Amino acid sequence: MIVRETKKEDLARVADLHARSIRLLCQDHYTPAQIRAWTDVLNPVVYESALTAKYCIVACDGNTILGMGMLSLEDGEIHAVYVDPDQSGRGVGSLILSHLEETARQHDVMELTVFATLNARGFYEGKGYNAIRPALHSLPNGLQLECIEMRKRLDSAGTDAEFCRRITVPGA
Ligand SMILES: CC(C)(COP(=O)(O)OP(=O)(O)OC[C@H]1O[C@@H](n2cnc3c(N)ncnc32)[C@H](O)[C@@H]1OP(=O)(O)O)[C@@H](O)C(=O)NCCC(=O)NCCS
Repeated sequence: MIVRETKKEDLARVADLHARSIRLLCQDHYTPAQIRAWTDVLNPVVYESALTAKYCIVACDGNTILGMGMLSLEDGEIHAVYVDPDQSGRGVGSLILSHLEETARQHDVMELTVFATLNARGFYEGKGYNAIRPALHSLPNGLQLECIEMRKRLDSAGTDAEFCRRITVPGA
Protein backbone atom coordinates (compact mmCIF):
# COMPACT_ATOMS: atom_id res chain seq x y z
CA MET A 1 0.00 0.00 0.00
CA ILE A 2 1.29 3.45 -0.86
CA VAL A 3 0.02 6.96 -0.30
CA ARG A 4 0.33 9.56 -3.02
CA GLU A 5 -1.15 12.91 -3.94
CA THR A 6 -4.52 12.75 -5.67
CA LYS A 7 -4.56 13.35 -9.42
CA LYS A 8 -7.40 14.68 -11.56
CA GLU A 9 -7.85 11.27 -13.16
CA ASP A 10 -8.51 9.73 -9.71
CA LEU A 11 -11.50 11.96 -9.01
CA ALA A 12 -14.30 9.76 -10.38
CA ARG A 13 -13.06 6.84 -8.24
CA VAL A 14 -12.52 9.10 -5.22
CA ALA A 15 -16.11 10.36 -5.54
CA ASP A 16 -17.43 6.80 -5.77
CA LEU A 17 -15.40 5.66 -2.74
CA HIS A 18 -16.47 8.72 -0.75
CA ALA A 19 -20.18 8.06 -1.37
CA ARG A 20 -19.90 4.31 -0.61
CA SER A 21 -17.93 5.04 2.56
CA ILE A 22 -20.65 7.42 3.78
CA ARG A 23 -23.49 5.05 2.85
CA LEU A 24 -22.00 2.02 4.54
CA LEU A 25 -19.82 3.27 7.36
CA CYS A 26 -21.92 6.23 8.53
CA GLN A 27 -25.38 4.67 8.19
CA ASP A 28 -25.74 3.73 11.87
CA HIS A 29 -25.26 7.34 13.03
CA TYR A 30 -27.22 9.37 10.46
CA THR A 31 -30.73 9.11 9.00
CA PRO A 32 -31.31 7.91 5.43
CA ALA A 33 -32.36 11.49 4.53
CA GLN A 34 -29.08 12.86 5.90
CA ILE A 35 -27.04 10.23 4.05
CA ARG A 36 -28.88 11.01 0.81
CA ALA A 37 -28.43 14.76 1.18
CA TRP A 38 -24.75 14.28 2.06
CA THR A 39 -23.93 12.03 -0.90
CA ASP A 40 -26.05 14.14 -3.32
CA VAL A 41 -23.66 17.10 -2.95
CA LEU A 42 -20.59 15.07 -3.91
CA ASN A 43 -20.03 16.21 -7.48
CA PRO A 44 -16.81 16.53 -9.54
CA VAL A 45 -16.59 20.29 -8.89
CA VAL A 46 -16.22 19.66 -5.15
CA TYR A 47 -13.14 17.54 -5.74
CA GLU A 48 -11.59 19.66 -8.46
CA SER A 49 -11.62 22.72 -6.25
CA ALA A 50 -10.25 20.63 -3.36
CA LEU A 51 -7.30 19.57 -5.52
CA THR A 52 -6.13 23.16 -5.81
CA ALA A 53 -7.11 24.42 -2.35
CA LYS A 54 -6.14 21.45 -0.18
CA TYR A 55 -3.56 18.74 0.28
CA CYS A 56 -5.35 15.68 -1.15
CA ILE A 57 -4.06 12.12 -0.94
CA VAL A 58 -5.15 8.63 -1.81
CA ALA A 59 -3.98 5.31 -0.36
CA CYS A 60 -3.57 2.77 -3.16
CA ASP A 61 -2.78 -0.85 -3.72
CA GLY A 62 -1.56 -0.90 -7.31
CA ASN A 63 -4.29 0.79 -9.31
CA THR A 64 -6.94 0.36 -6.65
CA ILE A 65 -7.80 3.33 -4.43
CA LEU A 66 -8.41 2.15 -0.85
CA GLY A 67 -9.03 5.46 0.86
CA MET A 68 -8.62 9.21 0.60
CA GLY A 69 -7.77 12.17 2.77
CA MET A 70 -7.85 15.96 2.55
CA LEU A 71 -6.16 18.59 4.69
CA SER A 72 -6.31 22.35 4.60
CA LEU A 73 -2.84 23.58 5.47
CA GLU A 74 -4.13 27.14 5.73
CA ASP A 75 -6.16 26.52 8.86
CA GLY A 76 -4.98 23.07 9.94
CA GLU A 77 -8.33 21.41 9.33
CA ILE A 78 -8.66 17.80 8.27
CA HIS A 79 -11.49 17.83 5.74
CA ALA A 80 -11.74 14.14 4.95
CA VAL A 81 -10.51 10.68 5.84
CA TYR A 82 -12.67 8.14 4.03
CA VAL A 83 -11.87 4.48 3.55
CA ASP A 84 -13.41 2.05 1.06
CA PRO A 85 -15.94 0.13 3.18
CA ASP A 86 -14.54 -3.17 1.87
CA GLN A 87 -11.15 -2.20 3.30
CA SER A 88 -12.11 -0.87 6.72
CA GLY A 89 -10.24 -2.17 9.75
CA ARG A 90 -7.03 -2.83 7.81
CA GLY A 91 -5.03 0.24 8.74
CA VAL A 92 -5.89 2.37 5.70
CA GLY A 93 -7.44 5.17 7.77
CA SER A 94 -4.43 5.17 10.12
CA LEU A 95 -2.03 5.45 7.22
CA ILE A 96 -3.93 8.34 5.65
CA LEU A 97 -4.19 10.20 8.95
CA SER A 98 -0.46 9.71 9.65
CA HIS A 99 0.31 11.25 6.27
CA LEU A 100 -1.91 14.24 6.83
CA GLU A 101 -0.34 14.79 10.26
CA GLU A 102 3.19 14.45 8.92
CA THR A 103 2.45 16.90 6.10
CA ALA A 104 1.03 19.35 8.62
CA ARG A 105 4.24 19.07 10.70
CA GLN A 106 6.38 19.66 7.62
CA HIS A 107 4.47 22.90 7.07
CA ASP A 108 4.78 23.93 10.74
CA VAL A 109 1.06 23.42 11.31
CA MET A 110 1.24 21.99 14.82
CA GLU A 111 -2.43 21.78 15.73
CA LEU A 112 -5.09 19.97 13.73
CA THR A 113 -8.86 20.27 13.93
CA VAL A 114 -11.39 17.83 12.53
CA PHE A 115 -15.18 18.04 12.54
CA ALA A 116 -15.51 14.30 12.98
CA THR A 117 -18.51 12.27 11.98
CA LEU A 118 -20.21 10.64 14.98
CA ASN A 119 -19.10 7.21 13.77
CA ALA A 120 -15.44 8.25 13.53
CA ARG A 121 -15.12 9.76 17.02
CA GLY A 122 -13.51 6.60 18.45
CA PHE A 123 -11.05 6.41 15.58
CA TYR A 124 -9.84 9.96 16.19
CA GLU A 125 -9.78 9.52 19.97
CA GLY A 126 -7.54 6.51 19.45
CA LYS A 127 -5.17 8.78 17.49
CA GLY A 128 -4.93 11.35 20.26
CA TYR A 129 -7.66 13.82 19.23
CA ASN A 130 -9.72 15.41 22.00
CA ALA A 131 -13.41 16.15 21.64
CA ILE A 132 -13.96 19.90 22.04
CA ARG A 133 -17.69 20.37 21.41
CA PRO A 134 -20.63 19.06 19.39
CA ALA A 135 -21.01 20.90 16.07
CA LEU A 136 -23.28 20.98 13.04
CA HIS A 137 -22.25 20.73 9.42
CA SER A 138 -24.81 22.38 7.10
CA LEU A 139 -25.49 20.81 3.73
CA PRO A 140 -26.46 22.97 0.73
CA ASN A 141 -30.06 21.71 0.91
CA GLY A 142 -30.42 22.92 4.49
CA LEU A 143 -30.08 19.58 6.26
CA GLN A 144 -27.56 19.48 9.06
CA LEU A 145 -25.17 16.76 10.11
CA GLU A 146 -24.21 16.39 13.75
CA CYS A 147 -20.47 16.10 14.17
CA ILE A 148 -17.84 16.62 16.87
CA GLU A 149 -15.13 19.23 16.79
CA MET A 150 -11.91 17.48 17.79
CA ARG A 151 -8.37 18.75 18.12
CA LYS A 152 -4.85 17.41 18.45
CA ARG A 153 -1.60 19.16 19.21
CA LEU A 154 1.12 17.50 17.13
CA ASP A 155 4.52 16.55 18.54
CA SER A 156 7.38 18.21 16.73
CA ALA A 157 9.02 14.83 16.05
CA GLY A 158 6.39 12.67 14.43
CA THR A 159 6.90 8.99 15.16
CA ASP A 160 5.61 8.07 11.70
CA ALA A 161 7.65 10.63 9.78
CA GLU A 162 10.23 8.27 8.32
CA PHE A 163 7.59 5.66 7.56
CA CYS A 164 5.48 8.22 5.71
CA ARG A 165 8.42 9.55 3.72
CA ARG A 166 9.35 6.08 2.53
CA ILE A 167 5.98 5.23 1.07
CA THR A 168 4.85 8.58 -0.33
CA VAL A 169 4.90 8.90 -4.09
CA PRO A 170 4.31 12.53 -5.05
CA GLY A 171 1.50 13.15 -7.54
CA ALA A 172 2.41 13.82 -11.15
C1 LIG B 1 -13.14 6.08 10.46
C2 LIG B 1 -12.35 5.39 9.35
C3 LIG B 1 -11.59 6.43 8.55
C4 LIG B 1 -11.37 4.39 9.98
O1 LIG B 1 -10.58 3.82 8.95
P1 LIG B 1 -10.00 2.31 9.06
O2 LIG B 1 -9.08 2.11 7.93
O3 LIG B 1 -11.11 1.36 9.20
O4 LIG B 1 -9.22 2.42 10.44
P2 LIG B 1 -7.90 1.57 10.87
O5 LIG B 1 -8.03 0.18 10.33
O6 LIG B 1 -6.71 2.34 10.49
O7 LIG B 1 -8.09 1.55 12.44
C5 LIG B 1 -7.21 2.18 13.33
C6 LIG B 1 -7.69 2.00 14.74
O8 LIG B 1 -8.91 2.73 14.90
C7 LIG B 1 -9.93 1.85 15.35
N1 LIG B 1 -11.15 2.27 14.68
C8 LIG B 1 -11.39 2.30 13.36
N2 LIG B 1 -12.61 2.79 13.11
C9 LIG B 1 -13.15 3.07 14.31
C10 LIG B 1 -14.39 3.61 14.73
N3 LIG B 1 -15.33 3.95 13.84
N4 LIG B 1 -14.61 3.76 16.06
C11 LIG B 1 -13.67 3.40 16.97
N5 LIG B 1 -12.45 2.91 16.63
C12 LIG B 1 -12.21 2.75 15.31
C13 LIG B 1 -9.50 0.47 14.91
O9 LIG B 1 -10.08 -0.53 15.71
C14 LIG B 1 -8.01 0.57 15.10
O10 LIG B 1 -7.71 0.40 16.47
P3 LIG B 1 -6.30 -0.28 16.93
O11 LIG B 1 -5.22 0.63 16.42
O12 LIG B 1 -6.43 -0.30 18.42
O13 LIG B 1 -6.29 -1.62 16.28
C15 LIG B 1 -13.31 4.59 8.42
O14 LIG B 1 -14.14 3.76 9.22
C16 LIG B 1 -14.19 5.43 7.55
O15 LIG B 1 -13.83 5.75 6.42
N6 LIG B 1 -15.38 5.79 8.05
C17 LIG B 1 -16.37 6.49 7.24
C18 LIG B 1 -15.94 7.87 6.88
C19 LIG B 1 -15.82 8.80 8.06
O16 LIG B 1 -16.73 8.93 8.85
N7 LIG B 1 -14.67 9.45 8.11
C20 LIG B 1 -14.41 10.47 9.06
C21 LIG B 1 -14.77 11.78 8.48
S1 LIG B 1 -14.36 13.06 9.62
